[in-house]
Amino acid sequence: MADDKEKYLLQILNILVDKNNVSSTELSSLLDVSHNSVIGFIKSLSAREGLIEVESKNVVSWELTDEGKFIVKNGSYEALVFDYVKKNGSLPLADVMKAVTNAKIGFSKAMAKGWIKNEKGTVTPAADSIVDEVKQDLELIEKNESSQVPDSRRADYKKRKLMKEVSTTVLIITKGKEFTLTLEKPETELTPEMIANGTWKTKSFKSYNFEAQGVPPPRGHLHPLFKLRDEFRRIFLELGYTEMNTKNYVVSSFWNFDALFQPQQHPARDAHDTFFLQKPKESKEFPPDYCEKVKKVHSVGNYGSIGYRYDWDIKEAKKNILRTHTTVNSVRHLYALGQSKHFQPVKMFSIDRVFRNETLDATHLAEFNQIEGLVADYDLSLGDLIGVINQFFNKIGFDKVKFKPAYNPYTEPSMEIFCYHDGLQKWIEVGNSGMFRPEMLLPLGLPPNVNVIAWGLSLERPAMIKYGFNNIRDLVGPKVQLSTIFDDPICQIK
Ligand code: PHE
Repeated sequence: MADDKEKYLLQILNILVDKNNVSSTELSSLLDVSHNSVIGFIKSLSAREGLIEVESKNVVSWELTDEGKFIVKNGSYEALVFDYVKKNGSLPLADVMKAVTNAKIGFSKAMAKGWIKNEKGTVTPAADSIVDEVKQDLELIEKNESSQVPDSRRADYKKRKLMKEVSTTVLIITKGKEFTLTLEKPETELTPEMIANGTWKTKSFKSYNFEAQGVPPPRGHLHPLFKLRDEFRRIFLELGYTEMNTKNYVVSSFWNFDALFQPQQHPARDAHDTFFLQKPKESKEFPPDYCEKVKKVHSVGNYGSIGYRYDWDIKEAKKNILRTHTTVNSVRHLYALGQSKHFQPVKMFSIDRVFRNETLDATHLAEFNQIEGLVADYDLSLGDLIGVINQFFNKIGFDKVKFKPAYNPYTEPSMEIFCYHDGLQKWIEVGNSGMFRPEMLLPLGLPPNVNVIAWGLSLERPAMIKYGFNNIRDLVGPKVQLSTIFDDPICQIK
């Protein structure tokens, strides 16, 4: 087919050598191919710069209708009537009407032309032979030679719906500025070889298309995890929470653990779970009053609590670590709140990175993001905690939430949060929560009847569920597919 096409293209070029111009309709009959194919050939030729010039014209021509084609094949209705009458010599008009196609028209035309006579219902021929002009005209029109048919007769055939006007786009081609008889493809690129061997001098080059659309420039994409983070942030803001400042990865054990009534022998404070800093190894300054209160509540108890009853050591509290949870920021914000003269209820949240000395596997990383929310207000109860958490999780797309009693050193009661995942068809643990203990809140200077309800969850877990990843490394780290980053939609948990 490709060879055939090339043959036709060359033929067209050769036709142009002797002619100033040629139309696509002429080419169609010269090459004996359909007009459509000729249009295709002309398009191919005009894609080669300067080879040919193309001009398009709308040409109106005539085409026979089905009725017109019937007449070309069988004769006009009047001729059919004449033939039938001639064959029978003389016969009743009613018989003619029955026997001939469209006899009514044929009869009146044949009468008008004087081919037959009608005497009181008996029809007889009135000529020896006739010339079927209509048929002859239509034959000419079919052969595209309608100019030989007088205008008045053409108008009549049009009125009788024997032919119709069709308009076609005809291309007229002439030689271009760089007309040749060869079909060598122009080069699209100037190569070092062409320069070295000098062939560039004789080659023809495709000119630049300055109108072409450029390649879309690569641009930044949000990591799926951060798309989800933005979604969570939006939800918190919608619910009226303010964002806590979390711009500190390095914290003292004092704020991360002791302030949270986490005893100094607690296994989480072990080097196995926490990253300790070499430099600077220690923090030095703690609010002295507050530090005393923390020491007291740990070692001998206070506020009606008997404490843990051990020798609380400031040396342990000074050790710098990478924060193990964002609750360290919550406690610092609550401390600031405790220092203000007049307590104002608050709703706060944060979403930021924490660090744990974990063994890495498909679901654990040594650093991940925590989402943390808290409400501090007078006389809050467990019912408030359940209500607030339900509200939050419903808002992020989990309708079914349930709780399981749990233990945290700094909350009482504490509850693990489970959500039903419709896609996975099971309950999954999504977070941890509780009411901060008086041993934690009262040293901070908060009024005795203020309670704080709080909850935390990882950002990675809902992200894995949302994007259907079983391995955390598909979401975070060097093995993440860039296409994931470009293509993953903004998240909604559902
Ligand atoms: N800090 C807890 C954790 O790291 C989460 C939590 C926050 C629990 C607030 C209770 C209250 O898992």
